[in-house]
Amino acid sequence: MIKPSFLRALSGESVDPAPVWLMRQAGRYLPEYRATRADAGGFLDLCFNPELATEVTLQPIRRFGFDAAILFSDILVTPLALGQRVWFEPGEGPRLDPIQTANDLDALSLERIEPTLEPVFQAIRQIKAALPADTPLIGFAGAPWTLATYMIQGRGSSDHVGAKLFALEQPDVFDRMIGLLTDAVTRLLKAQIDAGVDAVKIFDSWSGAAWSSLFDRACVAPAERIRGALKASHPHTPFIAFPRGCGGSLAAYAAVVRPDGLAIDSSADLAWAASVVDPKIALQGNLDPVFMRGPIDALGPELDRIRSAMAGRPHVLNLGHGITPESQIANVEALIRHWRRD
Ligand code: CP3
Repeated sequence: MIKPSFLRALSGESVDPAPVWLMRQAGRYLPEYRATRADAGGFLDLCFNPELATEVTLQPIRRFGFDAAILFSDILVTPLALGQRVWFEPGEGPRLDPIQTANDLDALSLERIEPTLEPVFQAIRQIKAALPADTPLIGFAGAPWTLATYMIQGRGSSDHVGAKLFALEQPDVFDRMIGLLTDAVTRLLKAQIDAGVDAVKIFDSWSGAAWSSLFDRACVAPAERIRGALKASHPHTPFIAFPRGCGGSLAAYAAVVRPDGLAIDSSADLAWAASVVDPKIALQGNLDPVFMRGPIDALGPELDRIRSAMAGRPHVLNLGHGITPESQIANVEALIRHWRRD
């Protein structure tokens, strides 16, 4: 069988047209997702039900024929599996019992990862059995710093001041937490690969909130360790990193972490990213998600700009962040048609 275009791009090949998938491609903008979600009850019930998680992973593949599927799960299953209480407040978002002291951290245990997340691994096996053979499956985890922001603050926040103060006030506990999360993410991704995913991605959604030396310590160093551990045990599985909002630190991040794919947020100039990142590393991105709900006419020129910035280098078309619930099916269809020149 010919290697799928997504895996070719991640092995450093320039593919034309570049493969396309969208962050959060299974989600509330799809009526079929909303229907399955209503049947499942809570959001976490959906994540821990292999049949339903399989169904929602496949929905965007059936409807749009994306070049890769992404496992339906959430980054917050990692703190949950470590033993922290995690729940979703309807209409609001995630909530966790905050980690405030060394004792709170000591109550967490790495040993629970594999048994607690067995329904996720079961979903991976079912998704692989049901996906078209040429559609790779992406597994993922939250990166340690982004997970720590939720674990410390107990919820999402816009400035992450709670987590940043924690790093200043309890540096030893903070470093132990990042170390524990680095091990947890490594174990989770290894188990996902063993269950059948074809590539893995870490989401460092809040790396842009870290000051430069905190970024080195809590984002770069853990990502480098995760990559090293995965390459030692699973050398053929591509590793994608997403240091969202890291700005001018992108070049240093790429040079140290050396991912096979580097996801780029919408604020970064792709031509600049191409000039500072090793040409063997596939760049993934970086259309602003608002194009999925704005006038369709605006899409073509923006996609052409991305295409020309990425000409001749390995590229995976994606958004610069997750697709939002307000997105329009017609915009997604237009994106795929224009990109594939259909
Ligand atoms: O990409 C995909 O289709 C796979 C599934 C996926 C989800 N979350 C499903 C989800 C992935 C890859 C994630 C990652 C995730 N989760 C991140 C990192 C990526 C990013 O967007 O920055 C983060 C920070 C989270 C944490 C999280 N999960 C939040 C803050 C929320 C609530 C906000 C919101 O959008 O409602 C979630 C819930 C969530 N995760 C939903 C989905 C489809 C919506 C929940 C619902 O159906 O009610």
